[in-house]
Parts: sequence; structure tokens; C-alpha cells
Amino acid sequence: MRTAILASGRGSNLQALIEACHSGYLPIEIVAVGSDQLGTGALQRSEEVGIPTRVFQINNYPHRQAQEEDILIWIQENRVELLLLAGYMRVLGPQFISQVQFPIMNIHPSLLPAFPGLHAQRQALEYGVKVSGCTVHLVDQGLDSGPIILQEAVPVLPQDTEESLAQRILEVEHRLYPEAVRLLALGKVERSGRRVKIL
Ligand code: GAR
Repeated sequence: MRTAILASGRGSNLQALIEACHSGYLPIEIVAVGSDQLGTGALQRSEEVGIPTRVFQINNYPHRQAQEEDILIWIQENRVELLLLAGYMRVLGPQFISQVQFPIMNIHPSLLPAFPGLHAQRQALEYGVKVSGCTVHLVDQGLDSGPIILQEAVPVLPQDTEESLAQRILEVEHRLYPEAVRLLALGKVERSGRRVKIL
């Protein structure tokens, strides 16, 4: 499966996906990595292992749709069959989503539908939940609202800061995202409306 990854930052999930490919666990080929930010860890990690990268900086475009059209062209040029969002901090617009004919997956650092959007770990702490976690889901036209493939819970401890909770969740993310992508690539993800069955 020819796979592209979009990432905005550090790229630790991207790194976990790259390693899972290299070990043979993930039956996909990461053919391209894109970022909306210059000089990110995600770009650097990709370049280190020879994956071609592209930057789609928002202020180089007259409006968001123009940026997304450029991403669409990049996807077509690379004959992409699967798009993974790995810490991509922009919402893809409805026109983009409707034009992509293959799965788009995302990982989010909360147990959706709780705490969508930015700063999910801060939202969890402020709300006072005792359990949070992460979710791998298919992307639809809403905000972190697509059908859920896998979720896993982690405890929220009384002494937690945003950073300590983010780190505890991140350790699970690095295992859960490759696992969900593997299931999809092996044809073991069956979707029926909002519900996803793992075969
Ligand atoms: C991860 O925790 C990911 O779940 C989150 O950003 C972090 C990226 O870390 N994504 C979102 O919040 C998306 N709404 P990374 O760059 O080290 O993979």
C-alpha cells in the first residue's frame, strides 16, 4: 500500500510507523511525507531514512483550499493509496476529504468523542477525568469525528501535568497506530456506517 504521511511537528508517531515498516510488521510503503511547517522533526526523521518530503506552508498560499489542492496533487503524483495523519495539526476541509477515494487515518490523544480538537490532554486534565487514552480513527468531514478503529485507555494520575499525561498517552500511541494501520492494510477493518469491526 503506497502510503503518505502528513505531520506538523516532532514526528514521534511517524518514527514509530517508519520503524514498524522497517521491521516488517507493517505491510505498507511510506512513499512521501508532507508537513505544513518548515524544519520539523517529522521532516528530519523522514529525510534521514530517505523518504521524500514536501512542505505545504499555509502562508505560501492565498487560502486554505489552495494549500489542500496542492496536497491533493502531491497525493496523485505519488499514487497514494493510504493517507496517515500523524500529529497533523490542521483540519482537512470537506472538499479535500470528498476528493480522496482511499482511507485517511488519524491518531488523537484522547478517548474520542471526548476532547476533540487541540490540547486534548489539557482538556482531559481540566475536566478532571480519571481515565484518558488515544484513538485511531478514519477521517471524515468532522473534527476528530470519524469511525473509530482502535482505542486504548491510560490512567490520569492526581499529580499529572499536561506533559506527563501526554507522555503516558504517547507511549501507547506508538504501539496503537502501527497496529491499526496493519489491520487496515491486511483488510481486517470492516466498516458499517459509524461502526468498525476488526475481522
Ligand atoms: C500526538 O500525541 C498525536 O496524537 C497528537 O499530536 C501528537 C503528535 O506527536 N495529535 C493531535 O492532537 C491531532 N489532533 P508526534 O509529532 O510526536 O507524533
